[in-house]
Amino acid sequence: MEQKLMITNKPTSVQINIQDGQMLPNTTHDRRFVSHLAEQFSDQLATQDVIKNEDPLVYELFHHAFITDQTDMALGMSVIAAGTVGNEYYMTKGHLHESDDQPEVYYCVGGKGLLLMDDLKDDFQALPFSAGTAIHIPPQYAHRVVNTGAEKLTFVSVFHVAAGHVYQSVAEAGFAYLVMDIDGEPTLIPNPKRAQFLNSTTEN
Ligand SMILES: [Fe+2]
Repeated sequence: MEQKLMITNKPTSVQINIQDGQMLPNTTHDRRFVSHLAEQFSDQLATQDVIKNEDPLVYELFHHAFITDQTDMALGMSVIAAGTVGNEYYMTKGHLHESDDQPEVYYCVGGKGLLLMDDLKDDFQALPFSAGTAIHIPPQYAHRVVNTGAEKLTFVSVFHVAAGHVYQSVAEAGFAYLVMDIDGEPTLIPNPKRAQFLNSTTEN
């Protein structure tokens, strides 16, 4: 959706309605369906099957940018539906920040899941993320939220617009672990895509 960025040095407020999953005003509002995450879900047969039949909504995201003459903070809100593709829980695409020095804070306001953080080298963390949990995501960690609950998971994010979003390199490397529903329990499974990615980068 087109950005409607305005510069204002005056204080401004945003209303977050957790019940209805709305954030107003917002500069962007996007919806991500299973087809938008076709590269991210591990079970390709199940993914194609789901897209052909229904292509359900996985998550909605709102952003609002606070641009002043001197800085550019932004607020986000994401609402992830409950569900799976194959046995893999619904999740956000996952991204890195374009700028190496940019952190972010995620604050969960409803639902239950995990926040995955992966430096794409040797550190991977899957921290429990449920209503009331705030997590600082350090710079240079790819981040993704997974909804492992039966209800929608809603979280608020605070970041700088200058951070930028990089999706493609994260999609290619994959997160180190997948979060799968195994007999009703969220279970971390090593991601075969990561092993392939490491092999391809050491061969080249
Ligand atoms: Fe981010």
